[in-house]
Amino acid sequence: MNMQTLAEKLSAGAFDDILKRDFSRDMISELEQMNAVQLENKLKDTLAVPIDISKPRVFEYLQLYYSASWHNLFMELNMPRTLSLLEVGSGDIVYIPKALDAYSNNMGTYVTANLNRELTRSFQDKTKGMAINVQVIEDDAANIGLYYPASSFDVVAFHHAINDIIQTIIADREGIDTVNHDWWTIEPLMLQAVMDYHRKGMLKDAAYDAFIQIMDTSRKQLKSGGYMIFDNITYAGYDEVGYSSEFHSSYIELARSWISEANLGLEEIEIDSYDNQWWMVLRKV
Ligand SMILES: C[S@@+](CC[C@H](N)C(=O)[O-])C[C@H]1O[C@@H](n2cnc3c(N)ncnc32)[C@H](O)[C@@H]1O
Repeated sequence: MNMQTLAEKLSAGAFDDILKRDFSRDMISELEQMNAVQLENKLKDTLAVPIDISKPRVFEYLQLYYSASWHNLFMELNMPRTLSLLEVGSGDIVYIPKALDAYSNNMGTYVTANLNRELTRSFQDKTKGMAINVQVIEDDAANIGLYYPASSFDVVAFHHAINDIIQTIIADREGIDTVNHDWWTIEPLMLQAVMDYHRKGMLKDAAYDAFIQIMDTSRKQLKSGGYMIFDNITYAGYDEVGYSSEFHSSYIELARSWISEANLGLEEIEIDSYDNQWWMVLRKV
């Protein structure tokens, strides 16, 4: 969602429920002291792309931006309050469970397919005690059909996950174990391997089939008229480890062109105020 819309909706109280559930008194009072224009400027400054995670309060603003953006999408897409959602590669990030918890008044169902063991443990700690039903499938999202019948979900969510999926595919080819290692220790290796494949023009040959298999499986898991939703904004500080921010910033476009080429029976929906460089919403036809 763009910052002007987010600021206006925040000022109008549209996300009061999210704020009350998940934010500190301090953060709420910082937000309350700003009018819509000041809020918009604060959001634009704190979350300017590439997002610099050393800025003050950036994690609270990120949580606000993502939880509100996903919550708002559920509204815009007229999702039922009993929404069932599958997230691919959540790691230990809980923005979407929190958005779903608030949107569904505790009636939603959340499942994530997540391979990395340590991140799964941390995710389970962070979601303990949430009212919605949370399940983790510790397997490749390509295998989700082994656990759930077709047409089980209203939404399949890919929050900042296209890069994780591609990194994992390339890591597998390179013999890097992404399940049992600490993710952040092996991250530079994975990023450098992806860049190497990209610079040599080998990325598509290496990753397309496995990536499309996950997309096709995800589509099968959707109910008719359900949505696959992607966000993939760029964070700062990666060029120093030999990774290109410019390459990262084209991930949504890369996924858009590969998915379109595979002709899976998905159509893209434009949503007002969602920039299609960072967001993509596909509807199962
Ligand atoms: C660093 S976390 C990212 C969390 C979140 N997507 C974000 O960026 O905010 C990456 C996670 O994606 C998982 N992952 C990558 N490809 C996957 C796949 N095909 N199936 C299931 N999990 C996958 C990894 O195992 C890891 O737990």
